[in-house]
Amino acid sequence: MKVRINQELCNACGICGHVCPRHIPETINQENKKITMISSERIALCMECGHCVAVCPKHAIKVESLNEEKFISVKELNIDDNQLLSLLKQRRSIRRYKDKPVPREIINRIIDAAHSSPTGTGQRTTGIIIIDNPKTLASFSEHAYQVYEMLEKLLNNPIGKLIIKRKKGKKTFRMLQDFVMPGMHWYTRWYKEGKSNEILRDCPALILFHSPIYEPQGEYNCAITAFHAIMMAQVLGIGTCFNDLIPPACNKSPKIREQLNLPADREVYASITMGYSKYQFKRIPPRELAEVRYLK
Ligand SMILES: Cc1cc2nc3c(=O)[nH]c(=O)nc-3n(C[C@H](O)[C@H](O)[C@H](O)COP(=O)(O)O)c2cc1C
Repeated sequence: MKVRINQELCNACGICGHVCPRHIPETINQENKKITMISSERIALCMECGHCVAVCPKHAIKVESLNEEKFISVKELNIDDNQLLSLLKQRRSIRRYKDKPVPREIINRIIDAAHSSPTGTGQRTTGIIIIDNPKTLASFSEHAYQVYEMLEKLLNNPIGKLIIKRKKGKKTFRMLQDFVMPGMHWYTRWYKEGKSNEILRDCPALILFHSPIYEPQGEYNCAITAFHAIMMAQVLGIGTCFNDLIPPACNKSPKIREQLNLPADREVYASITMGYSKYQFKRIPPRELAEVRYLK
């Protein structure tokens, strides 16, 4: 049994079943006495999220796959909503970095936050690859530019254009043709002239978030995990920027896949460049969603 209840400790309060997304622990009346038991009908649906263990006031429930000692006591927090809002508002996408490495202790602290992100199916399938070695970043860049050069050639050819449209669908095709490639045209030129590396933004560190291709929520999982890292980085004084050019290069380039040692059944779905910001923003630009409304 994946989940076990110690009946000697359990007071049948039923909270574990109430917080469980699938109501796997169920509290029933047995001979005029309340008892919490594991539903044999639903135990196979257990996502092993550990919420039952985390909420039990009596330490009476265990999930076999989760080490009890790794459950940390919840602390009373004193976080001010204004401060949190300011933190969110003051986050900027940082695209210009100081030529200064990010110490591994800081990167590891950022990764600590990434571990806590929620995941779509409850499975912990997201992986992270960090590149902070300048030489590795340089060869990674070289391969990434090759991918985009190849793409530009294909898009300049009527048959290649048709193939991409068919393979990627109209929406991605339009984005590539009207948004990504006009910028890439310049990025490639500047890279070749040794002026700048706009794909990687000359970052001292890059984080890639990858997921199995069969994971139904892989893209979301990677994006949310990346955002956890971004917010932690901000608190630690490290600037970051989501980067949409890097994941397709990782997935398409056999050289990058080899360099990353990325298994064939995994793809990179999110990436962030990071480093110490070269410039300090003085003002918060106006940001509003397209719409916010309550329904009657
Ligand atoms: C999903 C996603 C992908 C993004 N991809 C890129 C990118 O490839 N390159 C880039 O410079 N910025 C990228 N950004 C950053 C946005 O362009 C940025 O959020 C926008 O310019 C607003 O700036 P702000 O984040 O400072 O508010 C991305 C942001 C998101 C949410």
